[in-house]
Amino acid sequence: MKKTLLSFAIIFVVLSNMKAQTYNNLWIPDTLIGTTFNLAVKDTFKQLLSGNQTITGGINNNFWGPTLFFNKGDTVHMNVKNKLNDSTTIHWHGMHLPAVMDGGPHQVIPPGTLWQPYWKVTNNAGTYWYHPHLHEMTLEHLSKGIGGFIIVRDAAESALTLPRKYGVDDIPLVLTSRRYDASNQFVTTNVSYGDYMLTNGTPSAQVSLPKQYVRLRILNAEIERGYDLGFSDNRTFYIIANDGGLVNAPVAVTRVKLMVGERVEIMVNLGNDLVGSSIDLKAYNSGQAFGFPGAEPASSGQFGSLLNNIDFPVLHINVIAPTANPVTSVPPVLASNVYWTSANATVTRTLNITNGNPGPNPIPFNFDNASFVLNTINKTVNLNDIEKWTVVNNNVFGHTFHIHDVEFKIVDRNGSTAAVGSHEAGWKDVMYVPKGESVSFVAKFDDYADAIHPFMYHCHFSNHEDDGMMGQFVVTNPAGFNEIKKEIISFSLFPNPTEDKLTIKMGDMTTEVYYITIVNINGKAVMMLPQPEMSKGIDVSTLAKGVYFVQLMDKKTKSITTQKFVKN
Ligand code: C2O
Ligand code: CU
Repeated sequence: MKKTLLSFAIIFVVLSNMKAQTYNNLWIPDTLIGTTFNLAVKDTFKQLLSGNQTITGGINNNFWGPTLFFNKGDTVHMNVKNKLNDSTTIHWHGMHLPAVMDGGPHQVIPPGTLWQPYWKVTNNAGTYWYHPHLHEMTLEHLSKGIGGFIIVRDAAESALTLPRKYGVDDIPLVLTSRRYDASNQFVTTNVSYGDYMLTNGTPSAQVSLPKQYVRLRILNAEIERGYDLGFSDNRTFYIIANDGGLVNAPVAVTRVKLMVGERVEIMVNLGNDLVGSSIDLKAYNSGQAFGFPGAEPASSGQFGSLLNNIDFPVLHINVIAPTANPVTSVPPVLASNVYWTSANATVTRTLNITNGNPGPNPIPFNFDNASFVLNTINKTVNLNDIEKWTVVNNNVFGHTFHIHDVEFKIVDRNGSTAAVGSHEAGWKDVMYVPKGESVSFVAKFDDYADAIHPFMYHCHFSNHEDDGMMGQFVVTNPAGFNEIKKEIISFSLFPNPTEDKLTIKMGDMTTEVYYITIVNINGKAVMMLPQPEMSKGIDVSTLAKGVYFVQLMDKKTKSITTQKFVKN
């Protein structure tokens, strides 16, 4: 009798432990490969909790989007269709491209409109991402789940023996968390932190990984929370890449801090683990210094969260049999990047993180006491200049600073080159600026000048960014001409009417087209084509039958000329 009770008790303990550890299989984003990418941004819903489904957003999916594979050197064409009921934008975070293709707050895609940016991929192999960037709406759109990974491949990275089987030994991980209201909907106002972890949009995620070296490409896509990542047995792992690609040599660590917007690629050895055993990737967020986002002790309210100031799992890993030809070591040499130093910079700038509202409520934050204004250009950078920017944080909290257009090198923290962490040794586009520090980077602003269209720099906390902690700069080419005279650009459209392709013939063949917008009879934009490749014509086959207008803006004078056509 005693024995029965005991085994009953044991079974009960085992069962209740199992109940405490119900995992869901990690969703691995599907992939799009090639040079033309069709992305439908949409409202949708997903079963995240038991009970009501949650209204979400996604790109071709019901949370998050496909992983886009680019090859360095290819020209990639994007067909971004906005199927939301709201305007939005899609920004290619980390990509070096013309400002007009960048998808910042100026490239607003109205509902129902197709936006077709394209660019030549010049970034190094690495892990980048894309996400909405509409001013004052970024938190809401990103919180819905709109975003995706970009993985760039190049010859140098491909020549190394690294895990590269996507979803098998090369796993993308987007880390975020959400707060839910009583009807299971995402809370997107007065919220800095979620309460429940989502890894690739999966609550309580688990994955099966082979008994060998695996590569994790980790992105922090939170509102504010930082992660101090490590494994549950404190094993050593290797940082092999930062935001802008491979570091020169792997960095052995047991923890890595990953702040909002940053990416890190790590390799971890599961080769000594037993098949059938498991290990957790965890956030060791308890006991962080004041100012670390997510270290606040409150468990609720605008600055609190159930995940604040605790250690919590982000991914449960079950070890399975090795694959054929597993990767069994970390290459000792990964890249031969030559980084900029302070000595390379010919222009220096300082940005102070300031408090725009010095009342009892210390937000919104901004830069140099000026909040973002859509039509104010804050800085002008000369094409090809190498600049050193120092972000000074004598404010109350840590922030992550991100700049568009370039990958940079962090050159010092509080003036000390040695204080730059080995985990952030590579090319970066986001840097953490803790409370009480000034952090400097050096970057070269090459290839793309546009006196009209700006790039952004901002805090990557989406609530701070939406509140105006953002500025913008144009890159101008002093050698270029600046002659502005309005003129009517003559062009003709044929065939007209057309069924599928519209060819534009310029009256003056030297005219360069800056932007084409196709609007319908009600004046609503249906297609947006930045700097279209005129020789290819315009594919209008997806437009409904009717009358449309081509609004053509020329590059030199920025004047707009309109012509009518009929779609049959
Ligand atoms: Cu990740 Cu301005 O953006
Ligand atoms: Cu901030």
